[in-house]
Amino acid sequence: MSKMRLDKLLSMNGVSRSQAIVIVRGGAVTVNGETILNSATIIETEGADIRLNGKRLRTDEHLHVMIHKPSGYLTATEDKETPVVADLLPELFRKRGVGPVGRLDKDVTGLVFMTTDGQLAHRLISPKWEQDKLYRARVEGKVEESAVQRFAEGIPLKDFTCKPAKMSILERGEEESVCEVIVQEGKFHQVKRMFASVGHPVTELKRLMVAGIWLDESLEPGQWRELTEEEVNHLYKAAGMKE
Ligand code: URA
Repeated sequence: MSKMRLDKLLSMNGVSRSQAIVIVRGGAVTVNGETILNSATIIETEGADIRLNGKRLRTDEHLHVMIHKPSGYLTATEDKETPVVADLLPELFRKRGVGPVGRLDKDVTGLVFMTTDGQLAHRLISPKWEQDKLYRARVEGKVEESAVQRFAEGIPLKDFTCKPAKMSILERGEEESVCEVIVQEGKFHQVKRMFASVGHPVTELKRLMVAGIWLDESLEPGQWRELTEEEVNHLYKAAGMKE
């Protein structure tokens, strides 16, 4: 059972409280086929067919999306000068207050989740919950097996020592190599700093997976989609918020 005031439900669908009073009084809203005239009416939303001018409204408490972040965007909800990932979403999502889960550098591409559930976002980035994040890095020079070993031992940086990380070499050339690395931490510029410290500056970095959910290959940079119910359940479980 999930009860909610009609005006709250309408606000979750982009209608302000004052608009809601007028719209509802005008007979534009039906709940399971019945016209409701008072926007303060408490309604049972679970499984309900709630429509505004015949168009079905969303009743889900939270919104969760994945974005294929393009280079040049900040992982933020607003910025005066630079485009932000929230700009890529429809206005309703921004109005509902979706926020990014963690951060990618401006030049880094790939998987970013955005959610209206602040607790979920917090747990997915908290070191306590140790979520795996997989990055693919194009780096300068020929990466040797010894670097894999150094990642596995935990790379000491100036201000902290990284936890052991699984790194693999996908392509190895004289000029550049392509590697993948799984990290659980998310310190500032961490992956770039790890590769730089073994002598291979990163020239391109893309995040492909977070907490077991992979970037949908059909999404071009700048595109997004809502997470499936299965993906949402998986993330809540990974965050210890669901059995
Ligand atoms: N590591 C980095 O160096 N940058 C990111 O954006 C994410 C991980």
